Amino acid sequence: MNVSEEQQKPENRARPTTDELRAFIAEDWAPRTPGVTEQTEAARYAAARRDALSAAFPGDRLVIPAGGLKVRSNDTDYVFRPHSAFAHLTGLGGDREPDAVLVMEPRDDGTHEAVLYFRPLAGRDTDEFFADTRYGEFWVGARPTIEDIELELGVSGRHLDEFADAVVKDAGEVTVRVVRDADRDLTRQLDEARTTESTTQAGVSEATQSADQEDLAEADDELAHFLSHLRMIKDEWEIEEMRKAVAATRLGFEAVIADLPEAVAKGRGERWVEGVFGLVARHEGNGVGYDSIAAAGDHATTLHWIKNTGELRDGDLILLDAGVEVDSLFTADITRTLPANGTFSDAQREIYDAVYAAQEAGLAAVKPGNKFSDVHAAAIRVIAEHLEKWGLLPDGVDVEATLDKEHGQYHRRWMVHGTSHHLGIDVHDCALATREEYMDAELKPGMILTVEPGLYFKADDLKAPEAFRGIGVRIEDDVLVTEDGHENLSAAMPRTSADVEAWIREVQAR
Ligand code: GLY
Ligand code: MN
Ligand code: MN
Repeated sequence: MNVSEEQQKPENRARPTTDELRAFIAEDWAPRTPGVTEQTEAARYAAARRDALSAAFPGDRLVIPAGGLKVRSNDTDYVFRPHSAFAHLTGLGGDREPDAVLVMEPRDDGTHEAVLYFRPLAGRDTDEFFADTRYGEFWVGARPTIEDIELELGVSGRHLDEFADAVVKDAGEVTVRVVRDADRDLTRQLDEARTTESTTQAGVSEATQSADQEDLAEADDELAHFLSHLRMIKDEWEIEEMRKAVAATRLGFEAVIADLPEAVAKGRGERWVEGVFGLVARHEGNGVGYDSIAAAGDHATTLHWIKNTGELRDGDLILLDAGVEVDSLFTADITRTLPANGTFSDAQREIYDAVYAAQEAGLAAVKPGNKFSDVHAAAIRVIAEHLEKWGLLPDGVDVEATLDKEHGQYHRRWMVHGTSHHLGIDVHDCALATREEYMDAELKPGMILTVEPGLYFKADDLKAPEAFRGIGVRIEDDVLVTEDGHENLSAAMPRTSADVEAWIREVQAR
C-alpha cells in the first residue's frame, strides 16, 4: 500500500525545487488524448469469474490486492507483475497498476459491486507528476484515469486513498476476507484493523484475540483456496490466450534451434540460448513465464537449472524448458531436449526414446473420466519398464515392486518429479486446490495441464550405465482436456527423436 520500508531514500542526490520551477513544469502541455476507448475483451470473462466468486461469499467483503512494486536493490524495482488472482478477476495483464486493490463490496441482495481502488493519473500541476521517482509520470509513464479504468474493465473505480477507510468501515459486522500473499503490508494493516475492530468492543482476553486471528486466517484461506480452484477449468478466452502463448513459445524454440551452432561456437552457450529465447518472449509476449532452464549436458540432470551459466558443446544435449507469457499473463511451459549438433548419439537416443514412450503413455491417459493422477501413473510405468530393462532397479525389484507406493519408488532416483501440473496464469496453476480437487480429481474438459516425463542420469551416478552418465532428457507439452480426450496445444513442436532431428535440419536450413 505504501512505499516499501525497504526502499532507501537517499538525500545525497536531492535538489531544491522552487515554486517558480514547479509552475514552469506544470504549464504548456497539450491536452491528453483518451488512453482507453473501449472495454477489453477480457472484461466480460473477468466479470463472469467475479460472479462465481460473489455467489460463493454472499455478504462478505472480499479484498484482492494486485500487490506492490518489489525492490530489486536500493531504489530500483523489478518490473511489476500483479498477483494472479487479481489478474484473473480484473483481466488486467502485465505491468499494470501496482498497489491497486479489487474489492468485492457486498450489497444487501447478496450480490457484490466490483470496485477497483488504484492510484489514478496525477495532474501535471502536482509534485508527483515530475518529482515522484516511483510513481510519477516523468519517471514511469502515465497511468489511467478513473474513467479509463471504469471503461476498460467495467468495474467501479475509486482513488486508492479511499481504500483504507472503506475496507474496515464496518469490520465488526461484515466479514472481510483478503488474499493474504498478494500484498503483505496491506494484509498486516488489515489484520490490525480487523482485530482491533472486533476486540475493542469489550475487554477481550489475549486468548480470544489469538483465536480471532486464527479465524481471520481461516476465512482468508477459504478465499485464496476458492480463487485458486476457480482457475482450474479455463474459459474459451483463456484457452485462446494459451494457444497464443504456445505459438509464441514455438517461435522462441525455433529461434534457439536456428542459433545452436552460434551458441556452441560463441562459448557460454547456455546464456546464449536463454537470451535468444528471452528476446523472442519479450517481443512476442510479456516475457518469459518463468526463468528458462537452458541446461546443457550434465546440467540437464539438475531439475531447476536456471543459472544457465554453462557451455554448450558439440555432442551435448540441451534441455530447454521455457515458456512465453503473453500480455494477459497466461504462460506456456514447454520442454524440448535438443542435440546441439543436430543428431542424437546412440545413448542419448535410447534415453530420449524411453522418455518419449513415457510421454505417449501419459498423453493417452489425458481424457475426461480419468483422474489427474492417472497421467503420472501411466507415464511412470513406462519409465519403470525401461529402468527394469536396463537392469537399474535393485535386485528382486520388478516394475510392480518399484511402483508400490509404500515400499518401492526406486525409479525416483532417475525421475523424481511428477508428470503433470495445471497451467495457466501461474506456471504451476491452481496451487491451493486440495488433493481431492487436484491429484485425485477427474479430468474435465477445459483443464490445461502439462505432460512432462523425464530421465536424468547424473555424471557421478555410479548406478547408471557409463554411457548414460551426464544425460538428462525431458519432453513437456501443454495439453487441453476436451470432451472426448485431449488436444496437445504444442503438437506443432516435433517430439520423436527422428522428428526433432528433422526439425533442427529444417529450421537451420531456413
Ligand atoms: N518449468 C517448470 C515446470 O516444468 O514445471
Ligand atoms: Mn511444467
Ligand atoms: Mn517446464
